[in-house]
Amino acid sequence: MVTLVVCKWAVGYLKACRSECLFPGPPTLPILGNALSFLGATEYDIMDRFLKLWKNSSQVIQIRVLHILVLVVSDPDDIEKVLRGSDTQDKAPHFYRFFQNIFRYGLVVLNGVQWKAHRKATTPAFHKELLDRYQELFNEEAAGFLQRVTTGTPSLVGPNSELFAMRSFARTALDVQVDGNVDYAIPLITDILHLFPRTFSKRTAQPLFWSDTLFGMTKLGRETEAALDKVKQFGLEFIEKKRRDLGEGGGAEQRAEQRPTLIDILLESHGKAALTDDEMMDQLVSFFGAAIETLDTSFGWLFKILSLRHDVQDRVLQEVRDVVGTQDLHPDHLARLEYTERVIKEQLRLLPPFPFLARSNTRQATVFNGKHVPKDTSFLINIYGAHRDPRHWQEPLKFDPDRFLAGRSEGRHQYAYLPFSLGPRNCLGARYAMIAMKTLLATVLPKYRVDPVDDGLTDPASFPLQLGISARMPGGVRVVFTPRET
Ligand code: HEM
Repeated sequence: MVTLVVCKWAVGYLKACRSECLFPGPPTLPILGNALSFLGATEYDIMDRFLKLWKNSSQVIQIRVLHILVLVVSDPDDIEKVLRGSDTQDKAPHFYRFFQNIFRYGLVVLNGVQWKAHRKATTPAFHKELLDRYQELFNEEAAGFLQRVTTGTPSLVGPNSELFAMRSFARTALDVQVDGNVDYAIPLITDILHLFPRTFSKRTAQPLFWSDTLFGMTKLGRETEAALDKVKQFGLEFIEKKRRDLGEGGGAEQRAEQRPTLIDILLESHGKAALTDDEMMDQLVSFFGAAIETLDTSFGWLFKILSLRHDVQDRVLQEVRDVVGTQDLHPDHLARLEYTERVIKEQLRLLPPFPFLARSNTRQATVFNGKHVPKDTSFLINIYGAHRDPRHWQEPLKFDPDRFLAGRSEGRHQYAYLPFSLGPRNCLGARYAMIAMKTLLATVLPKYRVDPVDDGLTDPASFPLQLGISARMPGGVRVVFTPRET
C-alpha cells in the first residue's frame, strides 16, 4: 500500500518536474517546488502569500507544490481558453476535493456526464419567470432583517444578513414553511457552514490532513462528520415528507404548481433527469452552501462600502425612492434599479466572493498557449487579477459603479469580468443573487443610514481578505445602522 502511494506520488512528481519550465514562475526547490511559500498558511494570510508569488503578472505563471503543478491564469484571453476549453471543464481535484467533504456529489464539485445531468435537472428552478414569483417571500425576509437590526451602535452585519439569506433560500428553494421546519433546520445548516471554512483551510494548508483517514481522527474531523450526519438525516426526512405532501394533495401540490421550488422540480423530474434521494440531498446542501456563503459575503462588503461612501449610498437611496416609492417591491422595480445594480456589480468586481476558481485537464494532455500541458495540471483562474487589470479597467482600484454604464463598457473583454464565472459551468444562481441583493438594499436604505465604524479601513481596494470558502473581511464587517427620519 505504502509502496503504491509512494510510486503514484513519484510519477506525479516526475511529470510535474519535466514540465518545470513550461511557463515562467517563481524559483522552485527540488522536491518541494514552491511548497515553502504556503507552509503553515492560514485563511488569514494565504491571499498575501499568493499575491507575493503572482506579482500582478498578466502572463501565465507556473507554481509547483510538491507534485502538483498549477498554472495561474490571469489574462482574459487565457481565462476564456480554460473556461471554454473542452479538456478543461473539470474542477481541479487538488482544490475542490475538500469541498467534497460537505458538498459530496453536489453540482459545484461534480464533473463529466453526472454534472451535465444534474445541471440539466436543476436549471429550470432558476428561470426568471419562476424567480419573479418569489419576490413576496424575499420582501418578507428583508422586512425580517429590518426587525433584527441593532441601531445606533457598531454591529456585525453577518449574523443578520446570513439569516436573511438562509431564510430566503429555505423558503424559495425548499418551500420550508416559516413557522414549520425553518427554525429547526437553520441551526443545523449554520453549524455545517461555519465548520466548513475551518475544515477547508486546515486541510489545504497542512499536507498531513490531505488524508481523509487522518483528518477524520481529528476533533474537527469528528465534529464535521457529526454535523453532516445531522443535516443528512434532516434532509432525507424532509425530502420524504415533501414527497408525501405532494402525493397527498394537502395543499402542497397546489402551492408547488403556483410557485414551484427547487425541491418540487427535482421531485418531479422523471427518466434520465430523475435524482435519487441521496443525490437530491447533495444538491440541496451544495446549493445552500453556494448561495449562503456568497450572498452573505457580498452583503458584508456592500454595507461596508456604502458606510464609507455616502455619495453612493445617497444615489442608491434616491433611485429606490424614485422607482419604488412607498409600494411593495416588485420584479419590475428591481429591473429599473439600474444604479443599484451597477453598485453591486462594482462591489463584485473589486471584492469578488470567489477570487479564484480552479480547473484541471484531467482527461488528456492539452495544448495551451502552444505548450503541451501534462494531464492533471491545475489551472488557477485569477478572477481577482482580471478584475484589477489596468489594461481592461481604468483606475482599477477606484470604486466607480458608473464604469458599468453601457457607454463605458463597450469593447471591454467579456472575460475581464467574471464574478459569477463564465462558460458552461457559470453560476446557476446569478439572477437569484441579484434579486436577493437588490431587495435587501432597497428595503434597508430607506429606513436606515449606514455609517462607518472607526476601524481604519477606508479603501475597499485594500481591505484585508480572509480566504475561507469565499474572501471575507477578517472578523466580519461592522457598520452602524442609524434610523432615518421619515
Ligand atoms: C454574489 C453571489 C454569488 C457569487 C459571486 C457566485 C459565484 C459563483 C462562481 C464564481 C461559481 C463558479 C464556481 C466554480 O467554477 O468553481 C458559482 C457556481 C455556482 N453557483 Fe454561484 N455565486 C453566487 C450566488 C449563488 C446563489 C445565490 C446560488 C443558488 C441559489 C448559486 C449557485 C451556484 C451553483 C449551483 C454553482 C455551480 C454551477 C455548476 O458547476 O454547474 N450561486 N457561483
